[in-house]
Amino acid sequence: MKTIISVVGARPNFMKVAPIHIAFQKYRDKINHLVCHTGQHYDAKMSKIFFEDLQLPEPDYYLGVGSGTHAEQTGKVMIEFEKILLKEKPDLVLVVGDVNSTIACSLTAAKLHIKSVHVEAGLRSFDREMPEEVNRVLTDSISELLFVTEKSGVTNLKKEGVPDEKIFFVGNVMIDNLIHHLAQTDHLPTLKEFNVEPGNFVLITMHRPSNVDSDSQLKKIVHMLNSIAGNRKIIFPIHPRTRKNLESKNLIDGLNVNVILTEPIGYMDFLCLLRNAELIITDSGGIQEESTYLGVQCITTRKTTERPVTVEIGTNHLVGDDLEKAEQLAFEILNGKKKSGQIPELWDGKASDRIVDIIADKLFK
Ligand code: UD1
Repeated sequence: MKTIISVVGARPNFMKVAPIHIAFQKYRDKINHLVCHTGQHYDAKMSKIFFEDLQLPEPDYYLGVGSGTHAEQTGKVMIEFEKILLKEKPDLVLVVGDVNSTIACSLTAAKLHIKSVHVEAGLRSFDREMPEEVNRVLTDSISELLFVTEKSGVTNLKKEGVPDEKIFFVGNVMIDNLIHHLAQTDHLPTLKEFNVEPGNFVLITMHRPSNVDSDSQLKKIVHMLNSIAGNRKIIFPIHPRTRKNLESKNLIDGLNVNVILTEPIGYMDFLCLLRNAELIITDSGGIQEESTYLGVQCITTRKTTERPVTVEIGTNHLVGDDLEKAEQLAFEILNGKKKSGQIPELWDGKASDRIVDIIADKLFK
């Protein structure tokens, strides 16, 4: 029996490990798949609700690390994860995405000479000021197998000198998860609860430090939202970081009544809103991919994207941090100027199966 520990830490990790966990069930006689939750995200609405929505089993280990500076958070995860590795002595560690828990756990494994694999490898924004970019580059450089979602990732890894035999273009596990759950959102009461009509509202998420930690940028976000809210209802599930900053700067009460503020919401409700939105404005990584798969217009308020396929062939528009430009484009889209999009190669719901087959092949060779 081999043991693999998969790591989840922050919100975007849960929907990536859920389909991988399902895929591992076909090897359950040979592979013991354990899940370790670092506790980087700990609010029920940022964590527990995803375990329920995605039918993820309770994690085998919960490290309870919580918030802190980057060094504190990364360091605490490493200290706690090392104890788990020493106890379980797994054959492999699997990490996903680009959050602090991702680099912390792959680095801990590397120091103990335990091999790790990285799912969603090779993505590059080429902006080293983004904490996630540093996490991506470092995690890829110490991982044994690199599972890539889009062709740009293969190109990036090859340019960095990674040998071909480590790189596997397998598709997108987050899209596996979306495909698995989409039909379940058909009859949810979510739109009714928010009192919006399908295809006639705007969805917004905003949480990157570059957007929400600066006074002037936050004020511009409020201005943009109020202006769009003159035309359409806006639903805004607020990340804790964004809420804290809007409240401390007394900006939250200045939002138009057509901006419906909510706590962070669960996976199913969010998917229901996303597939029915006329437009989403976001600075998230994953939502750029989910909206491209669903053919929903997406404005990304970032200077760079590590997911260029969503702009090249999908429905994503990258506008930089210029929110006046975002506002202007939002009005054009709402007036009918929509970009048509295609679904990227191998985003077909089978990425997790490909990944576990490759891992099993390597483990039992
Ligand atoms: C993290 C990831 C980011 C990802 C995002 C998704 C890193 C470097 N960043 O950013 O890539 O897009 O998750 O949400 O790993 N907080 C709570 N409750 C929680 C979690 C956080 O109140 O459950 C507050 C804390 O006060 C914390 C702040 O939110 O200071 C930020 O949390 P943190 O985990 O440091 O980073 P995120 O901004 O969530």
